[in-house]
Amino acid sequence: MSYPKADFVSSAWKDDLFRKKVVFCTGGNGTICSAQVRALVYLGADACIVGRNEQKTKNIAKELSEVRTNARVLGIGGVDVRQPRLLQTAIDRCVEELGGIDLLIVGAAGNFLASIEDLSPNAFKTVIDIDTLGSYNTVKLTLPHLVKSVQMQEAGNRGVGPSGRVIFVSATMHYTGYPLQAHVSAAKAAVDAIAVNFALEYGPFGVTSNIISPGPIGGTEGMRKLSMIEKIKEKEGRRVPLQRYGSVKDIADATVYLFSDAANYVNGEVLVVDGGAWRVLATG
Ligand code: HXC
Repeated sequence: MSYPKADFVSSAWKDDLFRKKVVFCTGGNGTICSAQVRALVYLGADACIVGRNEQKTKNIAKELSEVRTNARVLGIGGVDVRQPRLLQTAIDRCVEELGGIDLLIVGAAGNFLASIEDLSPNAFKTVIDIDTLGSYNTVKLTLPHLVKSVQMQEAGNRGVGPSGRVIFVSATMHYTGYPLQAHVSAAKAAVDAIAVNFALEYGPFGVTSNIISPGPIGGTEGMRKLSMIEKIKEKEGRRVPLQRYGSVKDIADATVYLFSDAANYVNGEVLVVDGGAWRVLATG
């Protein structure tokens, strides 16, 4: 089947790349994660997105289900990734209604700008918990389904294409340090560590784990917040080597690559999608 051209994912990808595959995504109602899922659904996947906000999650799921005829997209709201019980219920529903989990996007994150002196211990802990405990809960609870997906694929019972793939959505600010982002930098450094350890532990089971680290991506909540630091905004815009902010399509294309068969031997890696921005920040 050939789809009409879409402007949210590269036309380089083969239609039906993810046919009969199911992606589970935390933070799926956010700008970046919903764009990742949109591309996968367009290219054949079914999806389950989870988020804290009920209405927003349902609305985004409905939008995503409309990118392809017969796409099935579940939107499960009220899910706080810090609470394993809530996550487990969502995972069980995904497996029951969509038939399994082949691909996982660990995307839920917390973010606000605050200096170290203005951060309360609870504010620091909140971001650490959402990002790190939330990521840990997500991979721990989906792991049996990812392993099963690989086993079914090997037995020829899970269609064609990739099985048992994980992408963690991280950031680049902890490579250099970033003003007003100590809590987020600490959290994302830990997320990267979880992702790499996961790659080593579950590679032998055929499950891969990689990291996408978006740079300054236009139109996202993160950028709206960072743009409040006017000086940084000016500096970054001028200094990205590619001379532009990224788009969510850039992140969607990186996601399709890492989940496709083209990335079969990529495991425990970081794919920075930032137009070269962090290297410039690093050199001052
Ligand atoms: C200082 C803040 C604060 C703020 C909350 N707190 N917002 N402190 N400045 N703007 C403090 C509270 O005062 C409280 O501490 C503690 O954090 C917990 O607050 P709650 O509201 O109870 O927490 P909760 O609702 O669980 O989570 C709050 C939140 C979350 C972390 C702000 O709602 C959130 O992250 N929403 C935005 C989601 C988002 O931006 N996602 C994109 C992530 S982008 P006290 O001491 O008062 O109890 C990303 C990549 C980075 O992560 C890219 C950047 C470019």
